[in-house]
Amino acid sequence: MLATWAGCCIAFGISVGLFGVDQGWINFVGSGKSKAVKTRSEEKVAEDKDYDDVHTEEEYATITSRLLSTNAASKCLGAPDEWKRVPYFWNKDSEAFKDAFIPSSLHARDKLSVEPVVFLNRDRKQFVFIMHIGKRLCGHDGIVHGGVQATLFDEITARPAFWNLPRSVALTASLKINYRRPVVVDQILVLKTQLASIEGRKATITAQLEDASGNLLSDAEALYISPSNEKLFPDNSSKVKAFENTYPGNF
Ligand SMILES: *[C@@H]1O[C@H](CO)[C@@H](O)[C@H](O)[C@H]1NC(C)=O
Repeated sequence: MLATWAGCCIAFGISVGLFGVDQGWINFVGSGKSKAVKTRSEEKVAEDKDYDDVHTEEEYATITSRLLSTNAASKCLGAPDEWKRVPYFWNKDSEAFKDAFIPSSLHARDKLSVEPVVFLNRDRKQFVFIMHIGKRLCGHDGIVHGGVQATLFDEITARPAFWNLPRSVALTASLKINYRRPVVVDQILVLKTQLASIEGRKATITAQLEDASGNLLSDAEALYISPSNEKLFPDNSSKVKAFENTYPGNF
């Protein structure tokens, strides 16, 4: 038992050591004691000094126009009887907006760079999102963090849920993701989501994450519940309607 435990520790120690060496951030100091020190290259530190996580208006507009010139956007813009553009951000002027995770933390230069472009289908069961994911959302070097993808799936699958569940209130009950291909950072992503089935207060929503050329990178299935507690979660449907009508369209 003790031998196994010791073996385990040694193996662990070695693997951490190799990982540290590989990453270049472990320094071994002291007499026989090891201490992990995380350092950043001087280059990185210099880069960070002048780093501003807010885009200039010009950069913001350039990225937004790139989103609007994708095939996915052209398809929706070319079918105004089927799709209309709606805002991504909801409740922009409210107090709650300031503390909301996406607008306050994720929406920044080199992250979720600009407000995603969103199209709503006239059936109110399908949405298309087009977004730019910047270089500062890595897990593995150069690859979008799996948890960031999970966040995006949670965000987008909520839309068909709000539009179809009773009282337009929807809470995520489960979210399953199939990561099929590495998603590299600093690219435009197209996320599609649709209502798959609905039964009373439960809705199953499916979603696909694609690159701008339409290659499937990951997909997800989520279960949403409209809670029965009407006091805690009052009727949200008039707000959803108002949100939808922010941009008038053919439906
Ligand atoms: C009400 O609907 C909006 C979507 O338009 C959503 O952002 C908001 O979270 C919903 N509120 C609740 C409590 O479900």
